[in-house]
Amino acid sequence: MKARASAHANIALVKYWGKRDRRLNIPAVGSISVTLKDLFTHTEVEFHSGLKADTLVLDHQPAAGEQLDRVSRFLDIFRKEAGIDTCARVKSENNFPTGAGLASSASAFAALALAADAALGLNYSPVQLSIVARRGSGSAARSIFSGFVEMKSGVRDDGSDAFALQLFPARHWPLEILVCITSEARKTTGSTRGMTLTAETSPYYGSWLDTQSQDLEALCRALEKKDFEALGETMERNCLKMHGLALSAEPGLLYWNPATLALIHRVRQLRRDGVPAYFTIDAGPQVKIFCPPGWTWRVENEIKDIPGVYRVMLTVVGGNVSKTAIQDS
Ligand code: PMV
Repeated sequence: MKARASAHANIALVKYWGKRDRRLNIPAVGSISVTLKDLFTHTEVEFHSGLKADTLVLDHQPAAGEQLDRVSRFLDIFRKEAGIDTCARVKSENNFPTGAGLASSASAFAALALAADAALGLNYSPVQLSIVARRGSGSAARSIFSGFVEMKSGVRDDGSDAFALQLFPARHWPLEILVCITSEARKTTGSTRGMTLTAETSPYYGSWLDTQSQDLEALCRALEKKDFEALGETMERNCLKMHGLALSAEPGLLYWNPATLALIHRVRQLRRDGVPAYFTIDAGPQVKIFCPPGWTWRVENEIKDIPGVYRVMLTVVGGNVSKTAIQDS
């Protein structure tokens, strides 16, 4: 009834924005991501008959309210499956800022799914884990896998075909990624609310849905051929399209700060100077810069002194999950 697990954050190269079913959290579009070797969540779950309610300690602080409710609702899926109503104690730690657009919900719900599965001895397959992780957070479905990962939106009403799979292992293309932190504050509009608002109010939402498959195909081709320019161009186009879409919601959603914008301009200037580097940004102000192997030192030197950039983390594609059931002595 007790287990530990870890899962890694991921960054979408072609992004998920919009849901086709809110209750089951089924994405309206497919997405492609890379799982990151050095950004991860460690989670411990213990189902214990002596507990009167679920508890959550997140990054060493007791959590309550919506954060705890979200975890409880997620654990209910496992309780139902295992035929129990036992409450659980959850401890979770990220080695990077939580809730600031660095995919902390992805690694968090993937790790929680793995830990709950191990604690209850359910022995889910990776695909089953991906389906259940999706219920916690759409991007969490991808963090079950390492390397280059594709999430399908599927067509079935019950979401049983909406899961992720590995496209290529990390060794296929050891890309380097600079994660530039420009704020550690929690974002003001979470992704679920942002997506719902966008779908309900943006005049561009239909075009977003209609053009996603082109970006997914272009990115798959770039990965297959290891064509860095094609990867970068598709990734930047899709990122700016997603942010343009979010900006066109009512009220408009602006996730960037001045340092985000300064980084965009610097990356583009570096490219004009012959440095292979492209950016992407999720629902937050952090900028992730992708380079072919061996190029990040050059980029890091050029960006670390930009005002508002106060931490730069270097990582690579990777990120295997782990889980261990713990026997109490
Ligand atoms: O998984 P969520 O609900 O946190 O949404 C993720 C949304 C983006 O990070 C902006 C895009 C993506 O595909 O990860």
